[in-house]
Amino acid sequence: MSSLTETSEYSRLLSASSSFKSDPSLHLRDLCGLSERCSGLVAKLEGSDGRSIVFDYSRQQVVGDTMDLLFDLAEKVGLDKKMNAMYVGDKINETEGRSVLHHCLRMPKGYDFGAEGGPGIVKEVHSVLDRISAFVSKVRSGEHVGATGKKLVNVVAIGIGGSQLGPEFVNEALRADAEAMGCAEGRTLRFLANVDPVDFTLSMSGLDPEETLIVVVSKTFTTAETMLNARTAREWLLKGMGGKGGGDDVVLSKQFIAVSSAVEKAKAFGIDPENVFGFWDWVGGRYSVCSAVGIVPLSLQYSFGVMEKFLAGAHNIDEHFFKAPARENIPVIMGLLGVWNSTFLKYETRCLLPYSQALKRFPAHIQQVDMESNGKRVAMDGSVLPFAAGEFNFGEPGTNGQHSFYQLLHQGRVAPADFIGFCKSQTPVEGEGEKVSNHDELMANFFAQPDALAYGKTLADCEAEGIAKELRPHKVFEGNRPSSSLLMTELDAFGAGQLLALYEHRTAVQGFVWGINSFDQWGVELGKALAGQVRKQLEGSRKEQSVVAGFNSSTTLLLETYLGKK
Ligand code: F6P
Repeated sequence: MSSLTETSEYSRLLSASSSFKSDPSLHLRDLCGLSERCSGLVAKLEGSDGRSIVFDYSRQQVVGDTMDLLFDLAEKVGLDKKMNAMYVGDKINETEGRSVLHHCLRMPKGYDFGAEGGPGIVKEVHSVLDRISAFVSKVRSGEHVGATGKKLVNVVAIGIGGSQLGPEFVNEALRADAEAMGCAEGRTLRFLANVDPVDFTLSMSGLDPEETLIVVVSKTFTTAETMLNARTAREWLLKGMGGKGGGDDVVLSKQFIAVSSAVEKAKAFGIDPENVFGFWDWVGGRYSVCSAVGIVPLSLQYSFGVMEKFLAGAHNIDEHFFKAPARENIPVIMGLLGVWNSTFLKYETRCLLPYSQALKRFPAHIQQVDMESNGKRVAMDGSVLPFAAGEFNFGEPGTNGQHSFYQLLHQGRVAPADFIGFCKSQTPVEGEGEKVSNHDELMANFFAQPDALAYGKTLADCEAEGIAKELRPHKVFEGNRPSSSLLMTELDAFGAGQLLALYEHRTAVQGFVWGINSFDQWGVELGKALAGQVRKQLEGSRKEQSVVAGFNSSTTLLLETYLGKK
């Protein structure tokens, strides 16, 4: 196995990338006209249930030879071996000495994936899922009620980062899905993440404490924001009960539950051990949506049955990812294109543009999955990388984004884009008379924007359109802006699971090719430590007339201003 820069493909790809930057015959306007090229740059995944995923990457700045080089590069850096090491549970998260097995969270009961200890893992996963299913059906049916006997129809999930973003994305994705919506009738699910008290106030507003179940979600059960919000919620709940319900212990045992891999800490917080749903150190926080982290709050809202479909969708992609040959493997191709755009074409940013309002929190989730995973400076062996790994990820649903940042995408900087669209709407609305349906209107934009980015509009086009001479330069679009289009059948629980797994694995592929550890996150530690020092200063300053000390002049000035000492 070689490292990326040691391979002959690395230098060949570098020289190919300069051609794409300088050779006008490699403009996407021309490349997109070559039907043989384009038909070779599509990967399809057909399901037995009539669903399909079409991944069209013909608008990426690649030709067949580029893809050949990328696949060869993948082979040289041992992508398939690394994928297999992940699959079977080798401790590929070396800095934390952990396996990376989030794909096991969605394996069906009794599934044998050929790994030593595999059957035990799948069994453990399902024993937690069975506990979740039993608890959820008791809450939803009213067998498990709040301390005063009222049905628990509100759920507030307290967690941050990976303990919130994924579940929140799935919640939004399912809110308008017919089946999920039916199951959620009369129920409320809210997410409380930020330590900003405004988030607390808004998350709790209008909720009757007697009907509210609090779920504290934290892998470590030490995250400062979550612990503070959990304590504040405990107070809110106990105070809100106004002494009813048979005492604090009864209230907490009925209405305060936890999801954590630090089960002992959750118990020490005062949560009934019966109501703690665990998961394992081989589930990274940002990869934990399919563990109790997502399945507990989302099943309470939408039923366990709906969430089983979500898990099945993710498993469907796992099967594809770990088994399909590289050239047909959608997450592998997505990841290789990510490396190509970032390392070779030097695009530092990429955007995620779902043409689906239901995916409004998907870009935020993938932002964490991707940036926390691949924002690294050293290779697995600790040597400093000779290239920058990771990209800035951002995105918004279309068409909203078109009225926000697309101006920059079309005429400013280049950011490779992923367009995501669905053949069916979750909530179809027929067009009036001869008019297209509302979903068609949305999708017209999904189909048009990638071409606008790729083809652009030349000065000659402007002239031919009779645009006034002085305005022509303003109306020129250079084009040659790369994108991929992912067209899926529909966004329901299964589809949401598929989408999640596609992007999780894309991130892993890039990390494997770059030779980094995509599964640790040491970069979040320093800020936390410094916040601890400031917290100490603030505690002291509130109690007595202390002086601000131990900070540089800039932080001292800011702190003194904040504390009203200036
Ligand atoms: O921001 C760092 C981080 O550790 C993330 O990786 C994680 O998703 C988040 O904090 C929350 O952690 P926990 O689930 O342990 O509260």
